[in-house]
Amino acid sequence: MSMHNRVCLITGATNGIGKATALALAAQGAELFVVCRNQAKGEALLAEINEQSPECHSTLLLGDLGKFSDIRRVATQFLDTGKPLHLLMNNAGVVNTHRKLSSDGIEETFAVNHLAYFLMTELLRDRLIQSAPARIVSVASAAYSFANGVQFDDLEFKTTPYKTFKVYGHSKLCNILWTRQLAKQLEGTGVTVNCVHPGAVSTGLGHQDHVVIGKIIGLLMKPFFRSPASGAKTSIFVATSPSLANISGEYFSDCKPKRLKSWAKDDRAAERLWQVSEAYLKRA
Ligand SMILES: NC(=O)c1ccc[n+]([C@@H]2O[C@H](COP(=O)([O-])OP(=O)(O)OC[C@H]3O[C@@H](n4cnc5c(N)ncnc54)[C@H](OP(=O)(O)O)[C@@H]3O)[C@@H](O)[C@H]2O)c1
Repeated sequence: MSMHNRVCLITGATNGIGKATALALAAQGAELFVVCRNQAKGEALLAEINEQSPECHSTLLLGDLGKFSDIRRVATQFLDTGKPLHLLMNNAGVVNTHRKLSSDGIEETFAVNHLAYFLMTELLRDRLIQSAPARIVSVASAAYSFANGVQFDDLEFKTTPYKTFKVYGHSKLCNILWTRQLAKQLEGTGVTVNCVHPGAVSTGLGHQDHVVIGKIIGLLMKPFFRSPASGAKTSIFVATSPSLANISGEYFSDCKPKRLKSWAKDDRAAERLWQVSEAYLKRA
């Protein structure tokens, strides 16, 4: 689909899947707003977009997605432009090998991978509705299956032993449950919301906490992983395909809707997750 005259906001576009997605959307003619925490990386990205797609109008919004006040500021900066929003791509994510806190003091994986998606979307929800038809696409992961339910009694793994894949999978399960709950709320508005698994992709994911063993495993596994451009295909498909104009609340992998495990279809857990996520935002 041509993305001419379509305005897109994407998070986590300085590297990996997000960068490949941003470059592809720019090549399709979209106007881009990229949310990055690092100014130098953000400017380098804009220069690359400009080099590959000189027609593309792109804007950098600087903010740490582990900080609610930054998310609110970035959303306000976007809203103040008065532009429509046709695509919100929640893509930024982290994996940690040990328990770390976000700038707001919340377990970082839960904060960046789930609460940031939730807050950014809530802040931009009305603009998306006013701009309909519009889409929300969030990058989840098949790793959701490592957590077989939301751990409401210890959402931040304060007392539960910190196991990387379980904690990461838990945050990605939250993405899926939240997507399904949001789809119900957006029914009839012309805004769809879906999430994707990009496959196993060779990116910077897991390298953020500078653990040497993680880098070595990453290098050894690299030949078995997809390139970022290949990993971005499902995100781009779900964001742009005319065939999905009315599809909402789904989880896609390899550009196809995928069946979910029972705990990712638990609507009561999704409702409860919504309430506790709102409570987090109020308390900050
Ligand atoms: N790679 C895989 O195999 C795989 C599989 C399934 C799902 N995913 C999902 O795909 C998405 C993209 O990950 P990736 O693999 O492309 O990882 P990546 O290469 O590490 O990119 C992550 C992006 O998120 C940004 N980011 C992280 N924390 C942030 C924060 N607090 N504030 C602002 N930006 C932040 C990073 O910014 P900096 O450049 O500043 O660090 C970077 O742009 C994630 O949601 C991930 O969970 C990946």
